[in-house]
Amino acid sequence: MSSDVVSDSRADGNDQEVQGGGSETLSKRQRKKLLKQQQWEEQRDLRKQKRKERKQQRKLERQTQVEDRTDCPDRKRIRKEAEPSSLRLVIDCSFDSLMMLKDVKKLHKQIQRCYAENRRAAHPVQFYITSHGGQLKQNMDEINKGWVNWKDVHIKSEHFHEILSKDDLVYLTSDSPNILQELDEAKAYVIGGLVDHNHHKGISFERAKELGIAHAQLPLSSFVKMNSRKVLAVNHVFEIMLAYLEKRDWKEAFFTVLPQRKGAVPVGQENKQKQDEDSEDSDTNETGKQNSENEKDQTNGKQEEHETEHNLSDSCERTDV
Ligand SMILES: C[S@@+](CC[C@H](N)C(=O)[O-])C[C@H]1O[C@@H](n2cnc3c(N)ncnc32)[C@H](O)[C@@H]1O
Repeated sequence: MSSDVVSDSRADGNDQEVQGGGSETLSKRQRKKLLKQQQWEEQRDLRKQKRKERKQQRKLERQTQVEDRTDCPDRKRIRKEAEPSSLRLVIDCSFDSLMMLKDVKKLHKQIQRCYAENRRAAHPVQFYITSHGGQLKQNMDEINKGWVNWKDVHIKSEHFHEILSKDDLVYLTSDSPNILQELDEAKAYVIGGLVDHNHHKGISFERAKELGIAHAQLPLSSFVKMNSRKVLAVNHVFEIMLAYLEKRDWKEAFFTVLPQRKGAVPVGQENKQKQDEDSEDSDTNETGKQNSENEKDQTNGKQEEHETEHNLSDSCERTDV
């Protein structure tokens, strides 16, 4: 490639031909092309250097991320640390026909959340999704077919009582008179796959009795004073079970998982919170508004039950999975 070919140009038309110093005749377009090629060659080393720098930068970023995760236990856990539990946790999706499509979509998101939390849990459970079909499966197929590649989860079309031994089963339901104390890792705990804003009160308790299987409620009232009923969303029950397996402490498990707006306060600290609210009361209108909402909650238990689960489901919807 000859540089005097380029420097010798006197052309001013777009494609005008110019005479090079040698025998070549080049159009303006060809000259430009040549010039670019030259520059490309000249900058080869510079590009190589920049690539090297970018690579080093990425390496550094990766290292910092790993260090951050080890420093801060709340960050995503590195999966190889996980020690799987033998406890089985089942989401019973046999209530599909009782839900409207918008609630099926919420359930789908709650299940995605359960899957993601189990994948990064310290002690992941043996996760089962049973009676998988109907609107839920259709929605999962339509929204994101990725679920077919989910790992470490048993997704079955059968009802859970067809695939798991009756003696191992414990239905979790807030209406059970039995209060869960310890978790038995040989058991299979069942969560009703239902988003119903408690329109179907006591349905999972009835289901457990019909099937003749054990049932229990989470020991919420022993540790948490709530300003609403104790009916939790599917993913919160699931996450509380995972948190308990890690912390072996119900109180810690509840407070790690339950959202602030559920109004969860440790038992014994209700008065303190009341005093704090009273002292803030005179300061801001916002607190006044909140107080009148609390009063409304107390006089309208039904509406509050409805809103509690609704809010919890919404909180889950905003979470990336
Ligand atoms: C949104 S609730 C469904 C409420 C529904 N009306 C019922 O009676 O089952 C979803 C599921 O979470 C579980 N659950 C919710 N709150 C619970 C609690 N306090 N203790 C144990 N299980 C609970 C139950 O398995 C329930 O079926």
